[in-house]
Amino acid sequence: MRAPAGVKLFHSAAALARSLGRGKGSVGLVPTMGALHLGHLSLVRRARKEQARVVVSIFVNPAQFGPGEDFSRYPRTLAADLALLAPEGPLWVYAPPVEDVYPAGFSSSLSVGGPLGKVLEAQWRPGHFDGVATVVARLFGLVRPDHAYFGLKDYQQFQVIRRFTRDLGLPVGLSGCPTVREADGLAMSSRNRYLDPAQRGAALALIRSLRAAQAAFKAGQRSAGRVEAAGLAVLKKERSLDVQYFSVADAGSLEPLARIDRPAVALCACRLGKTRLIDNLALRA
Ligand code: PAJ
Repeated sequence: MRAPAGVKLFHSAAALARSLGRGKGSVGLVPTMGALHLGHLSLVRRARKEQARVVVSIFVNPAQFGPGEDFSRYPRTLAADLALLAPEGPLWVYAPPVEDVYPAGFSSSLSVGGPLGKVLEAQWRPGHFDGVATVVARLFGLVRPDHAYFGLKDYQQFQVIRRFTRDLGLPVGLSGCPTVREADGLAMSSRNRYLDPAQRGAALALIRSLRAAQAAFKAGQRSAGRVEAAGLAVLKKERSLDVQYFSVADAGSLEPLARIDRPAVALCACRLGKTRLIDNLALRA
């Protein structure tokens, strides 16, 4: 595929490394699975402001999908992704085949322990964060960025990445960037394109429920159970939603809270037909 002006496209990490060279200024990395939208672009823009060179990786990582999940139907839209990235250039885009990330003989993986490896997403998607941590650590090794950018839309994912980067002492700075939303509040996600118009309407219950929880908190409610009940009541009204969790948790460890007496976040996950959506909102007075 010919890359548009503004974008240098690489399918191998070795070729990417040759082009980047060393000692030519800081390298920022924005890891993605493609099917790019304005949420991804916000990370790219922030990275472009802060780093001399920016690498965007596009790789649908098989290791983070469970057996019944959407790996095979996950949207792969490289040409459109490159067109979206071109005006943000210059950018180095790394879009490898599976063998470049996991060559023959690859046999190591990271295992996410502690509360972050047990609660919420970890409970509903066993093995998911091990797959995320392994591929992100591998990308850090292949690209050797000074700094990497992630979205707080995937709140637990960012906490997992912070944790293993610190645990392993990896020399990579991290930024978590705010969630970019559609005008009506739906968090942008590559998976939104699976939704039919009725489901697209029903999906708004996620942000409505989080805002209801936030309103209860702002009104002075400090019982996590009651704040959760306020959010759940909104979700339950949308009959087509299959609610997996709505939880108020410690903002760092994501352990469940009884009283909201420290920085906290409300997080929820629902299924709409075959599509699984997640969202979250910080609880701030
Ligand atoms: P993906 O879902 O493509 O997301 C790539 C990055 O974009 C993640 O850091 C995600 O949190 C961020 N992002 C997605 N939607 C966003 C939004 N609406 N606003 C702000 N940021 C948003 O997350 C992954 O890929 C993968 O797990 C990955 C980290 C690449 C490892 O495979």
